[in-house]
Amino acid sequence: MLNNKVEEILNAQINKEFYSAYLYIAMSAYFDEHGLKGFANWTKVQAKEEMEHGLTLFDYIIERDGNINLKPIEAPARDFHNPLQVFEMILSHEEYVTESIECVANMSENECDRATREFINKYISEQVEEESQVRDIIKMIKMFGEDTSVLYHIDKELGKRK
Ligand code: FEO
Repeated sequence: MLNNKVEEILNAQINKEFYSAYLYIAMSAYFDEHGLKGFANWTKVQAKEEMEHGLTLFDYIIERDGNINLKPIEAPARDFHNPLQVFEMILSHEEYVTESIECVANMSENECDRATREFINKYISEQVEEESQVRDIIKMIKMFGEDTSVLYHIDKELGKRK
């Protein structure tokens, strides 16, 4: 059985993961509108991963005989201006999610819930990977973003993500 505080923070994390999915599909639509199909693909694949993160938390709460308490999902940001600005927004969002996951880890430790502490490890590793990938994309855009032929190349690369 899940401790109430751990149950609450896991439910809150489900909301953040689904909000993340919403944010990424909003970004995908923006890129699609501007003909950047590769950027659109990358953000859409990321949205699917975020939904998977939310559903894995959902399954875990059920497995631990906890209660699911779904809250409204906020409308995503819409102030997208260019690929660099969007990817900087992604990085800052993922840093926020990382902090949030760290809070889940701390809460499970404080409440002596080793199963949740163990479960959340894969989310911690995932955040390290996600932040690193996004930083690399930002570096590429910053280095070559003024050169539209290279931006086209980056778009092609991002289009390969499955
Ligand atoms: Fe599932 Fe990018 O946080």
